[in-house]
Amino acid sequence: MLELKNISFEVQEESEQREIIHNLDLTIEDHEFVVITGPNGGGKSTLAKLIAGIKTPTEGQIFFDGQDITGKSITERANMGISFAFQQPVRFKGIQVLDLLRLAAHDDKLSVADACVYLSEVGLCARDYINREVNASLSGGELKRIEIATVLARASRLSVFDEPEAGIDLWSFQNLIQVFERMREKTKGSIVIISHQERILNIADRIVVIADGRITKTGRKEEILPEILGTASAVGSCEAYRRDK
Ligand SMILES: Nc1ncnc2c1ncn2[C@@H]1O[C@H](COP(=O)(O)OP(=O)(O)O)[C@@H](O)[C@H]1O
Ligand SMILES: [Mg+2]
Repeated sequence: MLELKNISFEVQEESEQREIIHNLDLTIEDHEFVVITGPNGGGKSTLAKLIAGIKTPTEGQIFFDGQDITGKSITERANMGISFAFQQPVRFKGIQVLDLLRLAAHDDKLSVADACVYLSEVGLCARDYINREVNASLSGGELKRIEIATVLARASRLSVFDEPEAGIDLWSFQNLIQVFERMREKTKGSIVIISHQERILNIADRIVVIADGRITKTGRKEEILPEILGTASAVGSCEAYRRDK
């Protein structure tokens, strides 16, 4: 179980401090599939980075299975079973896709056949990618899928995906939904996905809406989804109204 308790995060902007996460409380239960959504700039990526240990909160504490991990590094958290897929994945010069999957699986003898299964899961033709270098020759969408494959290989206790749909074409997106559905069935861990996609929101156990660094809504998908979609259509009708005038 992951618990964020009274988390705040400030950034230095020119001469002043700006708080971008305000006294936020959030618990992710074991085996829970949570989708976080909300407007751009609301603080979702920052929250993911606080969970992964890329950033340290200016206030509050983070617990994982009851242990205080607030001061723990990315590596320590990764070793405890927290993994993270970035909104903008990192390119690793000089490392092959196979090496990256072996590193992720903590198994330097992971067979090519097993590594290929992870690539196939994310819709990549494994044979074409397994020996590719993880560098600028890969497109954003390919890189994103390779990164998702590494998170699958890690089989973590908690996996956090920041906008996995970004830069992925429609065909791959259909497959991506299936990747998450299968992951949801197979994994023993918890999954947190940051997403704007209705189809991803639709497979959540719980939806959390974050805006202006605060949780503005949280609840079961059945409760929250109609509210969010309702808001969207309400905004739509307001615009139609304005156009009419
Ligand atoms: N290092 C930083 N320095 C200054 N402002 C930042 C920094 N990181 C994030 N922000 C600001 O914090 C807010 C939240 O950003 P982010 O977490 O990326 O939002 P989201 O992922 O929900 O779109 C935005 O206004 C962003 O510009
Ligand atoms: Mg973001």
